Amino acid sequence: MARLMIKKKHLPVLLILVALHAPCYAQKPNVKKAFQQAEIQTLQLLKETELAKAEADKSAAGNDLVSPRTLENGKLKLVASKDWTSGFFPGVLWFLYEYYGNTDWRDQARKYSALIEKEKTNAGTHDMGFKIYCSIGAGYRLTKDPHYKDVIIESAKTLSKRFSPKTGVIRSWDHNQDKWKNPVIIDNMMNLELLFEATQLTGDSSFYKIAVSHANTTMKNHFRADYSSYHVIDYDPETGAVLKRNTHQGYSHESAWARGQAWALYGYAMCYRFTKDPAYLKQAENVAGFILNHSGMPKDLVPYWDFNAPGIPNEPRDASAAAVMASGLYELSGYSKNSKLYRKKADAMLNSLGMKYISKDGDNKGFILGHSTGSKPMNSEIDVPISYADYYYLEALLRCKRLIAPEQG
Ligand code: GLY
Repeated sequence: MARLMIKKKHLPVLLILVALHAPCYAQKPNVKKAFQQAEIQTLQLLKETELAKAEADKSAAGNDLVSPRTLENGKLKLVASKDWTSGFFPGVLWFLYEYYGNTDWRDQARKYSALIEKEKTNAGTHDMGFKIYCSIGAGYRLTKDPHYKDVIIESAKTLSKRFSPKTGVIRSWDHNQDKWKNPVIIDNMMNLELLFEATQLTGDSSFYKIAVSHANTTMKNHFRADYSSYHVIDYDPETGAVLKRNTHQGYSHESAWARGQAWALYGYAMCYRFTKDPAYLKQAENVAGFILNHSGMPKDLVPYWDFNAPGIPNEPRDASAAAVMASGLYELSGYSKNSKLYRKKADAMLNSLGMKYISKDGDNKGFILGHSTGSKPMNSEIDVPISYADYYYLEALLRCKRLIAPEQG
């Protein structure tokens, strides 16, 4: 057999050949090149956004549109500040300022963050963290502007109104009241960062206690035995009993919607950062184990929109889920004994995104990544660029950079 005829002296040559043909995902991500691409794209997205805003401002219905969200039939779709995605574009601008230190980026970030600020009093949604923390929270981290601090605190007070001591959770949605009485979605874990931060800024532990109660109750009720997460848990508002376990944006109630698993991973790693509660670390590791070992996870580590989607491998991917997972894995790698594995997998995700899912210069009206899936069951935003994919991609790149060169971080 040919294999047996390989001589010892040929081994070094063979090893070089294998290394040359191994997928480049195994390399460290090229953060500099990725930011160069992100800067070119975002300059274009800024231009496109200004044009679309000017057009929208001509009609009374459109003059509240503030941030780009996605492309719809090839056209840029802007959203109002109340949309859950409104904070991601200002967040991208802050990340570019963080990387380049260029005051033009800072000024644009300030301008677009200001358009989101009024959400600080909007108690009609749980998405406060996504909207305010990803925009004004980033602004505060980078500038220490006391006005931003006030906005974060007021937003945390507003979000706290959605917490009920009877259920122990922050209510997510107010819509579909015929279907759910007190629904909580796994995505809501992401809003806890704003609450933890508000306690750090004020010394008022009430925000911290709400966040911990929400994280503990979610840990008890949202997860299956294999550590995959349901999307929606409906609670009895009076007794806190679980009424329903649903997966609204996934393939079926018992399937694992990819972005939901990403929110869970990122959410518990972040909760460990603020609390140092080992139960949160264990939870994040268990969720990471589910994600990384799942047979439905493709080789390039950019998941299909649902791990159990029936048509795999002919199902749309969700680049946004990979971006959130990569960012969460970098954070987790800072706390876990599985550090090396998590960094390697996060690196591989970023490399895949940067090689196969990235927009070509000038394409996608300036969004950085393509190929995300918003909600397949609603036939909405399938295989498109989406602002939150870009946001978590840049956040993950910055986390990667800090791990490579912590002194610059
Ligand atoms: N938070 C909504 C979503 O992930 O689609």
